[in-house]
Amino acid sequence: MPTLFHPYRLGDLALPNRVVMAPMTRVRAAAGGLATPSMAAYYAQRASAGLIVSEGVQPSLIGQSNPGTPGLHTDDQVAAWRPVTDAVHTNGGRIFAQIMHGGRVSHPDTTGMRPVGPSAVSAVGEVFTPTGPQPAPAPRALDTDEVPEHALAYAAAARRAVDAGFDGVELHGANGYLISQFLSSNANLRTDRYGGSIANRIRFAVEAASATVDAVGAARTGIRLSPGGGFWGVEEDDTPELYAALLAELARLQPAYIHLEATADEEVLVGLRRAWPGTFVVNPSVPMGPKQTGRAEADRWLDLGADLISFGRAFIANPDLVERLRTGVPLAPVDEDTFYQGGDRGYLTYPAYQYTA
Ligand SMILES: Cc1cc2nc3c(=O)[nH]c(=O)nc-3n(C[C@H](O)[C@H](O)[C@H](O)COP(=O)(O)O)c2cc1C
Repeated sequence: MPTLFHPYRLGDLALPNRVVMAPMTRVRAAAGGLATPSMAAYYAQRASAGLIVSEGVQPSLIGQSNPGTPGLHTDDQVAAWRPVTDAVHTNGGRIFAQIMHGGRVSHPDTTGMRPVGPSAVSAVGEVFTPTGPQPAPAPRALDTDEVPEHALAYAAAARRAVDAGFDGVELHGANGYLISQFLSSNANLRTDRYGGSIANRIRFAVEAASATVDAVGAARTGIRLSPGGGFWGVEEDDTPELYAALLAELARLQPAYIHLEATADEEVLVGLRRAWPGTFVVNPSVPMGPKQTGRAEADRWLDLGADLISFGRAFIANPDLVERLRTGVPLAPVDEDTFYQGGDRGYLTYPAYQYTA
């Protein structure tokens, strides 16, 4: 039985272990959505992960969800990412970019544009804006002939990601953002080929994944999903059937992996594991849930058939997480106050474990 510390072949990449750094937005990009030297240091500190998945990166200005997040839609952004990917590679790591289109989870004060979504249904809750949280605005429903350009935006960003030195991309199909909005039965009220039936609601996800595979190759394309997750008010009436259909279509594309959050009943997730012929990455907890992923949850999911395990919060506070898990030394606690603010504090200031003689 493989453990977290056995190597794993992921597409063309040889991962030295099965510990993945989960994507985490840290809103520390410079104006213009540019990556910074601090971001290079942050990811380089965590390069002992088998694979790093970056924070969510917008594929277009209108796809930007939060202020202060980086992009992959301008040449300057590509150039700014290059030192980040170089730093990770120099330190022996591998990094995918998470391509995140926020859809309706956005605000005109952030992008200068009215957000778009499958339907004119607002997200539930407040979205982040440059002046603080504000109620989620009603998005503009995309016309049928506009939908493909948003699916293609993921592929264009993937091409730029590879130009910037990323080893691949993960499409953000989870947590109530654009792909997840299309999958939903209450955020997507469309009556055209992108809404209604399961076959129609999965179409956007499949088109985005297919275009990305065409752009950068299947071995460089992963996708993250949160079955039944309910983030920002998205609901799915039919989670098991919806994801069974989605995985069947995605399987034809033979992507590098799917990355599941443990947002559905274990029985549903294990069923999806059995149905998926390729690499299955699991994040064993729920975003912002009370209990962060640790060794016990990871081992349990390896037993249940996961190939790779992603850790979020534990990686923020423990740049040497792989070594700490391997040796069993305590994990440092995370400071939630610096998740989305603080500059280098709470970002570059977590030390590796201090061994004493
Ligand atoms: C500060 C923070 C930012 C996050 N940003 C993202 C993101 O950009 N994309 C994403 O898919 N998940 C995001 N997540 C969710 C994590 O990837 C992960 O699923 C979650 O933290 C649960 O895993 P954990 O218990 O190991 O922390 C974020 C989580 C945190 C704590």
